[in-house]
Amino acid sequence: MPSTTTTPTTPLTTLKERGRALTGTQKLATAALGASAAVVGATALEVKRRLLQGDVSLVPNADLVRSVAARMTTPLLPDDYLHMLNPLWSAREIRGKIVELIPETEDAATLVIKTGWGFATDYQPGQYIGIGVSIDGKWHWRSYSISSEPSEGRRQRSGGTITITVKAMPEGFMSAHLVRGLEPGTIVRLALPQGDFVLPDPPPPKILFWTGGSGITPVMSMLRTMHRRDTIPDVVHIHSAPNRGQAIFRDERLKLAEAHPTLRMVENFDDEDGILEVSRIEEICPDWRERQTWVCGPAPMLDAAEKHWQQAKLAKSLHIERFSAQLSEAAEGGHVTFAVSGKEVDLDGATTLLEAGEAEGIDMPFGCRMGICHSCIVPLKKGLVKDLRNGAEYQQNQSVQTCVTAAAGDCVLEI
Ligand SMILES: Cc1cc2nc3c(=O)[nH]c(=O)nc-3n(C[C@H](O)[C@H](O)[C@H](O)COP(=O)(O)OP(=O)(O)OC[C@H]3O[C@@H](n4cnc5c(N)ncnc54)[C@H](O)[C@@H]3O)c2cc1C
Ligand code: FES
Repeated sequence: MPSTTTTPTTPLTTLKERGRALTGTQKLATAALGASAAVVGATALEVKRRLLQGDVSLVPNADLVRSVAARMTTPLLPDDYLHMLNPLWSAREIRGKIVELIPETEDAATLVIKTGWGFATDYQPGQYIGIGVSIDGKWHWRSYSISSEPSEGRRQRSGGTITITVKAMPEGFMSAHLVRGLEPGTIVRLALPQGDFVLPDPPPPKILFWTGGSGITPVMSMLRTMHRRDTIPDVVHIHSAPNRGQAIFRDERLKLAEAHPTLRMVENFDDEDGILEVSRIEEICPDWRERQTWVCGPAPMLDAAEKHWQQAKLAKSLHIERFSAQLSEAAEGGHVTFAVSGKEVDLDGATTLLEAGEAEGIDMPFGCRMGICHSCIVPLKKGLVKDLRNGAEYQQNQSVQTCVTAAAGDCVLEI
């Protein structure tokens, strides 16, 4: 079971009564309340009352309170105290709290996440986040597209919310846990929104969306954004799912098409219509060549789209989001030393260095987790590692993308 945390109320409620014997936590609470009150022009009592009601909008400047916390709690970590005040407050990392799980289909669910300090609610529709969940005492990270639209979070005064929509993969480790195993109230870690599979502002006049399965999520954020602005241009949206029951957001998509005459929704159900081959795009959307196109879905669908648009010399108007890297190679495995962290582990040739480091509790840098963004680069001090996408080998003193590489013998990483 993941670790769950609840917001303690005692330190704040009893501050006044115990004024003469303040503990470290209480001193911090007082300082933080004073800082908040000074900035927002409210009395400390008012700030306290509203914080107790769960309103964190009165904490206007995370850096300010962090800095107060750092000064007040030395030599202990500020996080130890901040966490006691509110589990979403952390000086070290961005946190979120699962507030609701909404079933979408029998194997997919939307997670509503209240975001903590430092999370940017001005993400662009189509971007994804990293989410870290503690399972059996270890943090596991995956990427998920944000399915909500940006202003949803900004509208809420007491800290924003975002949603991600997850399809449980057969044999998948984390997706099944997110869909079926998380309790509301669970604290998760978050990585900031990123990615360039985004809807430009303003959107182009003619758009084609082609989505399959859970590939609907980034496009749903785009559709919701355009709906909220009430300016949907000429959009054709083709969505494939195995059947009606497994078509994520079906009711909402059909309602959007009803509300906006410029949005044409085309559905393909594999069980009835067969898999939608790329050659059928011509018949469904004869002017596809004139449209900026966003495609997200299973790998074979994306490969086919890439080839088709390249052959038409239209690669520039095609935007693709892949949910997984194709790791078809295997490495030899070996003994891996994470030199800076002082951790060592024996690895097989299929486990990526990123997964291995995270499993050892190391704060590994990462972004897309699939070899695109280069955020996960770490220097290789000694040994040999292999790129699991194409078998390319990297030697000592080179930098390696830990999300797609594995040990090819004993090696030492500078992290
Ligand atoms: C940018 C980006 C955005 C994404 N957005 C979304 C999103 O919005 N919604 C969504 O649902 N997903 C999304 N994903 C995919 C997501 O990050 C995960 O990869 C996905 O949920 C599977 O994670 P998992 O831990 O369940 O699977 P893993 O355990 O990591 O397994 C990965 C795959 O291997 C297969 N597998 C695992 N073990 C075995 C085994 N023993 N035998 C055979 N096969 C096996 C699984 O079926 C699965 O398909 C996104 C990915 C990226 C990179
Ligand atoms: S995390 Fe993006 S390339 Fe590795």
